[in-house]
Formats: sequence, structure tokens, C-alpha cells
Amino acid sequence: MTGGHLQIVVCGAGCAADVARLVDTAQKQTWTAAVTATPNAMDFMDVPVIEKLAGVPVRSHYRASPGARRSLPAADALVVAPATYNSINKIALGLADNYAMTSVAELIGRQLPTVIVPFVNAALAARLPFRRAVASLRDEGVRVLLGPEDGWEPHPPGSGDDRRRVFPWAAAFETAARLAYEVRSPRGRPMQTW
Ligand SMILES: Cc1cc2nc3c(=O)[nH]c(=O)nc-3n(C[C@H](O)[C@H](O)[C@H](O)COP(=O)(O)O)c2cc1C
Repeated sequence: MTGGHLQIVVCGAGCAADVARLVDTAQKQTWTAAVTATPNAMDFMDVPVIEKLAGVPVRSHYRASPGARRSLPAADALVVAPATYNSINKIALGLADNYAMTSVAELIGRQLPTVIVPFVNAALAARLPFRRAVASLRDEGVRVLLGPEDGWEPHPPGSGDDRRRVFPWAAAFETAARLAYEVRSPRGRPMQTW
């Protein structure tokens, strides 16, 4: 028996290369995990390494083979990480211009517990469209890990490589697992520890 199934959506930012850390964190807590990537994110990732770890293909496009059957379990939670400025704005607007964005749009619409972890610099994060996007996603019930209360702030432009090392993969999983557990157990059974 597994703790749950985590759907991960990766966007095109430097720390996409580290998404194996999220897969590994989930697996250590008896969850399974599958990775979907935006087309831009594919260039940042070592796809064979992630596929070997997750045990399933990384999805970036609509299924090519009409005969291929869905074999993944239904997701218990969604983590979008790293989430780019571009994709956060698109998700908030409901745009679905690639497979990853279409998946996210539908899973949020199904009210799947969803955590978005931006990786944006302070100049981009200061833009009104971005601030509106974060507020709009929160209004919709999406958990956006950003701000002093989450211990995760936009970084100064040009410092992404340093910030990449402290990207909150563990917090992303813990938040998603907690939300999934609350959905399964709305009356608040004792929390699972991890
Ligand atoms: C080397 C490199 C690093 C990048 N890092 C970031 C980043 O940290 N955050 C971000 O929002 N965009 C970053 N970008 C820009 C995005 O890749 C670009 O906006 C792209 O359109 C995002 O596509 P996606 O949101 O569909 O994945 C980076 C681009 C390059 C080439």
C-alpha cells in the first residue's frame, strides 16, 4: 500500500534539473510519483535518470500511440515545481497551450490538492500580472508557496544558481501530502508523521 500518488509538473527553470529530489522525497514516504514537463522544461532535465527513478515515462506531449493504455494511478496531489513566471501566469489565466498546462488546468478544476512553488526572481515577481496570478490562484484554493510565511521568497535577479540549492522540495511534498490527507480525512484524524 502506498501513501498516495503525486503528480509533478516541471517548468523551464534551472532547478528543474533537481526534480529527482522531489520524486525521491515522495518515494521515501511511500508515495509514487510521475513527472510531466513543459516542452521548455525538457531541456533542463536528465530525463532518463528521472524515468528510471520514477519508473514511468516523463510526459511532455499528448500520448502519441493511440493503443497505449493509461497505467498510472489517479493522482492524490499535484505539485508544480519549479513553476516559472510564464507558467504561473498561464495557469492563473486558465491557459492550456501544452500538455503540462492542460493537465494542470484540469487537475485544479477537479479540485485536486495542488501546490505551486515558484522559482522567479524579484523583478519578475514584482510585476502586477504575476502578483495578480498568485492572488487569483490562492483564491481558487491552490496553495502557492511564496512569501515570508512560507520561508520562500523571490531571489535577486542573477542569483538563481545560489537559490537553486535551497529550493524547498521537501516542503512542497509535505504540503501536498498534508492537503491530500485533509481531503481524505476531512474530520481531522491524527496527522501522519514524516
Ligand atoms: C537557463 C535558463 C534559466 C531560466 N530560469 C528561469 C527561472 O528561474 N524562472 C523563470 O520563471 N524562468 C526562467 N527561465 C525562462 C523560462 O525558461 C521561459 O520563460 C520559458 O518560456 C518558460 O517556459 P515554461 O513556463 O513553459 O516552462 C530560464 C530560461 C533559461 C534559458
